[in-house]
Amino acid sequence: MDRMIIRGGSRIEGSVQVCGAKNAALPQIAAALLSAERLELGNVPEVSDIDTMLLLMRELGVAANRAPGHRLVLDAGGARNTQAPYDIVRKMRASILVLAPLLARFGSARVSQPGGCAIGARPIDLHLKALEALGAQVDMEAGYIHARTSGDGLRGGRIVLSSPSVGASETALMAAVLARGESEILNAGRDPEISDLAACLVAMGARIEGAGTHRMLVQGVQALHQARHDLITDRIEAGSYAIAAAITGGHLEILGAHLEHLGSVGAALESAGVQIWPTDRGLMVVRSGPLQAIDISTEPYPGFPTDLQAQFMALMTIARGASVIRETVFESRFMHVPELGRLGANISLQGSTALVRGVDGLRAAEVMATDLRASVCLVLAALAAEGETTVHRIYHLDRGYELLDRKLVQCGANIQRVAG
Ligand code: EPZ
Repeated sequence: MDRMIIRGGSRIEGSVQVCGAKNAALPQIAAALLSAERLELGNVPEVSDIDTMLLLMRELGVAANRAPGHRLVLDAGGARNTQAPYDIVRKMRASILVLAPLLARFGSARVSQPGGCAIGARPIDLHLKALEALGAQVDMEAGYIHARTSGDGLRGGRIVLSSPSVGASETALMAAVLARGESEILNAGRDPEISDLAACLVAMGARIEGAGTHRMLVQGVQALHQARHDLITDRIEAGSYAIAAAITGGHLEILGAHLEHLGSVGAALESAGVQIWPTDRGLMVVRSGPLQAIDISTEPYPGFPTDLQAQFMALMTIARGASVIRETVFESRFMHVPELGRLGANISLQGSTALVRGVDGLRAAEVMATDLRASVCLVLAALAAEGETTVHRIYHLDRGYELLDRKLVQCGANIQRVAG
């Protein structure tokens, strides 16, 4: 398994281009199943989660191919197989996103129940309740979800999500666009990736109002048509690079990033002593003075994103004072804590709360990545650690970051990726 050898101490300076958002791409690839015509997506990141999703789409009979210039061409005209098998779904939970489009287009679907993962149990009850609210019959048998509609397909209805789940909001939206009549989705997530899915569906001919708010209204249509859509940029990648500049006392222009997509991250970084402001190409991040410890609590968008919690914790390990970090979205998203401890961080855990006491500096060690965002947190900490750190199992990184090591090296980092 590949590993990264990182010699800390260099400032991250210059500029870096963020890619398209992985978590916008995944639902939009699934959305291709809703149409018998071609869907072309642009600004698609070259990361392994996308490859896994393309594998699943081909299994379902979709022509799914990458095209030059970070593009994808999808054609579900020939799609028939409505079963998403365990051996693909177990690799990536986001596979559950094919359930709604399969059901909406074909009237039935069998999708393996996704397992949990390093950050939590990851239940899907809200997805299933959303489909039942539109008239679906959902049963579980032998580890598979079996959903089907009565003869005349899904019917419009009211979906009330008990929490603003990103995935369940996307499931509800994709089911509603082909349902007969009007659907109302209440307590929907407001994440930019949900709004971008809605924009893609509207380009395909769907009728959606209120995307980006807690209430979406959908008028079902008979069929969707050919469309092209370019993905929004990846706000979590952008936030990760912002923290790379902050943790090394550097200055970095993050091209293609949008401050408003970072929600409350901008305010948190400023409170911590980091300067961040929009430019006409994206975002500028500078840290020249001392880092100040601040408290954060992860929340649904536009609150502090759980996907940046580990990265922000790395920053707080060398801040002045003590930082209280509460993880309210997932039940066990602290796998990075013991690994940060190996680098000399002083962190104690109490349930879903971490107390991070700032230390003067981190020291290099061998550490192990456990999940996508924990991996990048260790890379960021290693950039600031004295000496040479080795981060093992960096295949986790490749799930969501395109060419991370090369991009950081171009900004002054001393990183070597070693195969094997
Ligand atoms: C999406 O996951 C993202 N993944 C996650 O990013 C992200 O961390 C998460 O949203 C929160 O922002 C994709 O978009 C592919 P949720 P999702 O449904 O949709 C509970 C990354 O690193 N819940 O908003 O699975 C759930 O257990 C990944 O890129 C239910 O209880 O997140 C969690 O505690 C990690 N029942 C909370 O809601 C359900 O049916 C938020 O989950 C669904 C979710």
